[in-house]
Amino acid sequence: MLKKMFNFSKELEVVFKAVVKHANHSGVCAYFVGGMVRDFLMGIEIKDTDLLIEGSAIDFIEKFAVKYKDKLDIKIKSIHKSFDTAKTLINNTEIDFASTREENYPFSGCLPVVEKTGCPIKNDLKRRDFTVNAIAAMLSIANDTLNYEIIDPYNGAEDIKKNILTVLHNKSYIDDPTRILRGLDFILRFGFDFSPDDKKLIEEYLQKPDREGLSLDRVKLTLKKLFSDPLRAKEAYEQILENKYYKIWEDEPSFKKDWAQRLYEAAALFETPSSEIFSGAIFENSKVHKPLSSNASNYEIYNFYKTFSNKDLALHYAILNDSTALFYFKKLKNVKPDITGDDLIKQGFAQGKELGCELSRRFKEKLNLIKRN
Ligand code: CTP
Repeated sequence: MLKKMFNFSKELEVVFKAVVKHANHSGVCAYFVGGMVRDFLMGIEIKDTDLLIEGSAIDFIEKFAVKYKDKLDIKIKSIHKSFDTAKTLINNTEIDFASTREENYPFSGCLPVVEKTGCPIKNDLKRRDFTVNAIAAMLSIANDTLNYEIIDPYNGAEDIKKNILTVLHNKSYIDDPTRILRGLDFILRFGFDFSPDDKKLIEEYLQKPDREGLSLDRVKLTLKKLFSDPLRAKEAYEQILENKYYKIWEDEPSFKKDWAQRLYEAAALFETPSSEIFSGAIFENSKVHKPLSSNASNYEIYNFYKTFSNKDLALHYAILNDSTALFYFKKLKNVKPDITGDDLIKQGFAQGKELGCELSRRFKEKLNLIKRN
């Protein structure tokens, strides 16, 4: 299936044409892949630009940068040798270059180990999570126009039409249980659902989760993305509890369903990313202790909360239903003393303990005058 389809700006088209010319010259193929192709086929805006090279991405980009140094503004921002990937900024657009690769998982849930880079595209697509993400578009040029051939060995385009998430093999959730959370992300973002077979595989996994080699960092990173939008975060948090997805990392949840609404509100109230707040509620709830007594003075409130980060304040507010944390954040946090030690010395105070006491007394007086409402 040959298509003229992706709708890029003229500037970006120039970049991709150069990439294809360089690929032809080097005897390798270049592809768009993953979420980018999925989003295109779904007719939604493309966020990331991911290029896959059926060869070495680092070698490709290094030679490309030399060859096109006078025609394009190319910055290689970072390279990752073991994965043979490179992050670049070309004409002000971030473009990630990856090499096709094969991977394996020595333990359930661990980070994948790269077995081979520069493998055939179909082998690369095979290591991916869902059929809808295992589609590539091979780039070519004909009559100075960019063309794309869709490579879809697992019928991902069909699953996109059916709104269905299907893994590529039965061991997929065992290899990488964070795919359950990635699936939830796609369900909430795009209205997909897990296929009936996938629901069974997930249920089976959750009945006997293998956490021995689990990468908790990968879980946290996946949750960060899942919780990036406040409203979706609330829904995801509730679904993690309802569907027992927490079993990926723990047997019983230490976080509660009735925190969800206040966690959602806390993102805006405490000007903190929802991902930090919802992840905090899951992994750091044991840090949240008793609140202050309800008749604490403003000065006591100030001293109690002054070392708290905004996230910790938000967690207190949401988990303990503690409105004092919000009062502190809104009215006390940024209060500064009106007077410094030097000012008092100029007024005749001697340096020493008394001066310190006087500074505290004045600051306390100032804080205690602030009204809650
Ligand atoms: N991938 C995977 N298993 C994971 C993470 C990623 O197979 N645990 C693969 C998928 O093929 C995915 C690609 O890596 O399409 C890129 O992953 P990522 O950038 O996290 O997500 P996208 O699918 O591109 O989607 P989006 O950024 O829109 O969420």
